[in-house]
Amino acid sequence: MSPDIHSTNQIARPPLEGKSVVLGVTGSIAAYKAADIASKLVQSGANVDVIMTSAAMQFVGTSTFAALTHRPVTTGLWEAHSELSIDHVALALRADCVLIAPATANTIAKLALGIADDPLTAMVLATEAPVIVAPAMDADMFASSSTQRNVKTLKEDGVMIAGPAVGRLASGLDGEGRLVDTDTLIGLVRQAIGRFGDYAGRHVIVSAGGTKQPIDPVRFISNRSTGKMGYAIAEAARDRGAKVTLVSASDLPEPAGITFIKAVTADNMRDAILPISTDADLLVMAAAISDFTPTQVNDRKIKKQGSGNVSLELAEVEDFMPLARGKNLVKVAFAAETNDLEANAHAKAAPKGAAFVVANNVSEPGSGFGTDTNKVTFVDTDGIAEPLPLMSKLDVGHAILDRALTLLAKRLN
Ligand SMILES: Cc1cc2nc3c(=O)[nH]c(=O)nc-3n(C[C@H](O)[C@H](O)[C@H](O)COP(=O)(O)O)c2cc1C
Repeated sequence: MSPDIHSTNQIARPPLEGKSVVLGVTGSIAAYKAADIASKLVQSGANVDVIMTSAAMQFVGTSTFAALTHRPVTTGLWEAHSELSIDHVALALRADCVLIAPATANTIAKLALGIADDPLTAMVLATEAPVIVAPAMDADMFASSSTQRNVKTLKEDGVMIAGPAVGRLASGLDGEGRLVDTDTLIGLVRQAIGRFGDYAGRHVIVSAGGTKQPIDPVRFISNRSTGKMGYAIAEAARDRGAKVTLVSASDLPEPAGITFIKAVTADNMRDAILPISTDADLLVMAAAISDFTPTQVNDRKIKKQGSGNVSLELAEVEDFMPLARGKNLVKVAFAAETNDLEANAHAKAAPKGAAFVVANNVSEPGSGFGTDTNKVTFVDTDGIAEPLPLMSKLDVGHAILDRALTLLAKRLN
C-alpha cells in the first residue's frame, strides 16, 4: 500500500476548512471556469455559496454549481431560500470572503456606483468581508476609460482586483482580459481570509527548490528537491497574514499573494536572501542548495572526446546561512538525510545559527522529495528531538510556523 496521510492518525487540514466563501458568477464567456473555481474552493474545505447573475445563467446552469457546492444557488432578489431569510444579507453576513469570478465590465461598473439591483451587487454592498474581483472581458472593454475608472474606484474602496491576465481571448485576439487562473484565485482567497492571522505584520522569507549549478550552457548539477515543501511553508505563512518572500529554484508556478524571487544557483540564492534577511522576522531555508559546484563553467557545450572517461572537478559551496543576520531574525534550517538523522541535524543547528532544524529522512516512504506529505523531526540546538507524524506538507509548514512563533514572541520581548 502506498503511504498516504490517511494511514496515520493525522488528518490533513484543508486550508479553507470551515470558511465561508461567496462566489459571484457574472455573464462572461469565462463563466464556465467558475465551475472549476467552485470545485477547488470546496476541495480546499470552504463552504461555498454561489450567486449568479441572469447573464451568467445564459452561459452555465445553476445545477452545475448546486451539485459542486451541495448548496442552493442564489439567482434573484425575490426568491429567498428557506434557510436564508433575506438571501443577499444573510450571505453578506456569513461570508469570510467574497470572490467575483469572472466579473463582467457591467458588474464592475455597478459595483463602482453602488448599484444593487441583483443579489450579487446587493450582497457586496451589505458585506464587511474582503471582496476580490477578477475581471474577464475583451481587451478593449477592459482598456476602455470607463472600465479603467471603475476598476480604480473599486481599488480605492478596498476591493482587490485580481488580473485580468494577458493571453488569448475568446475573440481569438491576444490581450489583457483573461480570467486569472483558478489556483491564483484560491491563493488570494486564502490570503484575504488569513490577513489578520498570527503572522500579520511579520516578514517571512522561505527558500525552496534544488539549485542548479551550471557545467556548460546546456548542463547542470542539481538534486531531487522539487520545492513543494518550501512552497507549502510560504503558503502557510501567507495564509496566517505574513508578508512572504519566496526565493525559489523550483519550476513550480508562482503562488499568489507572495513576493517571488527566482534564484537558480547557490550564488543567486545568497544574493537574493542576505540583503533582505536583515529586516525579516523568520528565515526558513527549505531549499536544497547544492553542496558542490563545478570549479569551472564552460562557456561552450563540452563535446565528447571519445576517450571513455570524463572528470569534472567540483568545489564545496560555502554555506551562507550563518551570514543571514537580523535584529530579531529567527532562522530555521532543513536537513535532508538518509542516515543518522538526529545527530546530523543537531550538528547543523549551531553553525547555521538556526533555532531548530527540520530533519527529514528522505529515504522514508511518503517523506522527502516530490511527495505531498512529509515526516519530519524538529531538532534544536541542544539536540532535543521532536518527531512529528506523517503529515501533509502544508501541515508541516504550519507546525514549523507554530514553533517559530513562540521563538519570535520571546525575541521581541
Ligand atoms: C457571447 C457573449 C459573451 C460575453 N462575454 C463577456 C465577457 O467576457 N465579459 C464581459 O464583461 N461581458 C461579456 N458579455 C456581455 C455581458 O454578458 C453583458 O454585459 C451582461 O449585461 C452582463 O451582465 P452581468 O454583469 O449582470 O452578468 C458577453 C456577452 C455575450 C453575448
